[in-house]
Amino acid sequence: MSTQLKVRDLRTTFGSGERDVRAVRGVDFDLAPGGTFVLLGESGSGKSVTARSILRLYDASATIAGSVLLGDDELTAMPERSMRAVRGARIAMVPQDPTGALDPLRSIGAQIIEVLRAHGLVQDRRTARARAVDLLERVGIADPARVIGARPHQLSGGMRQRAVIAISIACRPEVLIADEPTTALDVTVQAAVIELFTELQRDLGMSLLMVTHDVGVAEELGGQVGVMYAGRLLETGPVGDVLADPKHPYTQGLLASLPVPGVERGKLPAIPGRPPLTGEVSDGCAFAARCPLAQDSCGSAVPVLVDVATGRQAACPVVNPSERLSA
Ligand SMILES: Nc1ncnc2c1ncn2[C@@H]1O[C@H](COP(=O)(O)OP(=O)(O)OP(=O)(O)O)[C@@H](O)[C@H]1O
Ligand code: SF4
Ligand SMILES: [Mg+2]
Repeated sequence: MSTQLKVRDLRTTFGSGERDVRAVRGVDFDLAPGGTFVLLGESGSGKSVTARSILRLYDASATIAGSVLLGDDELTAMPERSMRAVRGARIAMVPQDPTGALDPLRSIGAQIIEVLRAHGLVQDRRTARARAVDLLERVGIADPARVIGARPHQLSGGMRQRAVIAISIACRPEVLIADEPTTALDVTVQAAVIELFTELQRDLGMSLLMVTHDVGVAEELGGQVGVMYAGRLLETGPVGDVLADPKHPYTQGLLASLPVPGVERGKLPAIPGRPPLTGEVSDGCAFAARCPLAQDSCGSAVPVLVDVATGRQAACPVVNPSERLSA
């Protein structure tokens, strides 16, 4: 299978010296052309830092190491000037909060046209306007002629996020990264926006990297999933398989603590404790303090992802003892 985006041993550290924050501590995954990879994890696990590190959206306080291949291009080694041509054009990002992503003073149409112009995709006003209308239609906005002239505050949250998505697909990116794109929205429109991603992906052939803490979103999208904890992936595989039969104790705990239809909320066991803060991560398995299966050996080395079933990997030598030696 060819790969659109190949991330290897991605490590992002903020600050320097003793107070380093190792937010991402070695992440590997592949995103297939037209495929989906869902980065699933609790708050603070390093999902956004992973997404932003791919696009190198940090200043010099962050050190980003490892490899990010977009097709044949190594992004971690690319000069900043070339990276600017990648951002928004080859890889676009949909942020969590649409309000912050839009200029409150300018019309939606002007903001779409600005992106099209910046990347040299339109010359004259009429074509630019027609393209903007087309993009708004594509993201499910029923009355694009009105919305094109509207300011962001004149739109509902769901419409604003659709407008942001229209901007993000304006240059037909190869990869779309969406960082919790529905958490700021009303629950009633969340499902429709997730469905929009699926439609766009199918119609435009884009690869989608979806960042979410919501297992329901992962289930809805399908594709591959990586379960993130304290800056590392603890389990990867096809979404359906991982949710149906989680192999890693953390994934098992995470899913067991979710409400299941027909089971009263609060009757399910939650994982005791909380994830470690980035400054607290020490040698060994980061989940050890909360893991019901933890053994003395779990504190001595960081478990690596190993094959546990066809197309599936997990990073726990205790539940996968046969793989221990091959790690
Ligand atoms: N610019 C930064 N400087 C220093 N530390 C940071 C920075 N950005 C994130 N961190 C730290 O890195 C860790 C991972 O943060 P990240 O934002 O990736 O979490 P997340 O998984 O996206 O969580 P959430 O679901 O809350 O968005 C956190 O401990 C956070 O405090
Ligand atoms: S390595 Fe040990 S602490 Fe970590 S998940 Fe496996 S059993 Fe639990
Ligand atoms: Mg985040």
